[in-house]
Amino acid sequence: MRIVALLLVLSIPSLILLPAPQAIQGQQPKDDQLAPYYPTPQTVVDRMLQLGGLKAGEKMFDLGSGDGRIVIMAAQKYKADATGVELNDSLHRQSMDRIKTLGLGSTARVIHGDLLQQDYSSADLITVYLLPVGNELVTPILEKQLKKGARIVAHDFEFTAWKPVQSLAIDDDGEGRSHHLYLYRR
Ligand SMILES: C[S@@+](CC[C@H](N)C(=O)[O-])C[C@H]1O[C@@H](n2cnc3c(N)ncnc32)[C@H](O)[C@@H]1O
Repeated sequence: MRIVALLLVLSIPSLILLPAPQAIQGQQPKDDQLAPYYPTPQTVVDRMLQLGGLKAGEKMFDLGSGDGRIVIMAAQKYKADATGVELNDSLHRQSMDRIKTLGLGSTARVIHGDLLQQDYSSADLITVYLLPVGNELVTPILEKQLKKGARIVAHDFEFTAWKPVQSLAIDDDGEGRSHHLYLYRR
């Protein structure tokens, strides 16, 4: 009886853990949101920045930066100049507080605003974790603004107008979820 109960408990996570793309799509974004808040696991953040080939001193932007985890790792571990853009008041405040606490204020910051209204012309690397509609709206902005050679790393949802130069499947992020990353170069 105990063995049956244990097997049942062990099988529950695999029943309820959806792959990341389905999980985020199941959440409803509000009003002008291009994606709901659904944070990238830290292990996947690291893989995104590795895939994007981020180097010390380069400028990176995370479009819809949530709690600032990508910006913070880019500045702290990769020594990049990192900027997030976040619409949500409390996520913006939370990420700026964390940046201050970590003493990263000179190389990391989060703009409180709409990611469709910013200037990305100085970017060496862009990271995004938005729904497909978000990627579609961002496409013409990046095509117009990005300099030649700039890289874009997209989490889970492709930019359908572009062909990735590399893609990466992560079968398990450590919590049983799978992820896909796509690298593009302008
Ligand atoms: C899926 S979460 C990704 C968060 C973070 N980039 C990460 O990977 O952990 C998407 C984020 O985009 C933000 N967002 C959605 N629409 C936005 C917009 N128009 N301008 C700025 N931020 C936006 C949401 O508030 C949310 O924090």
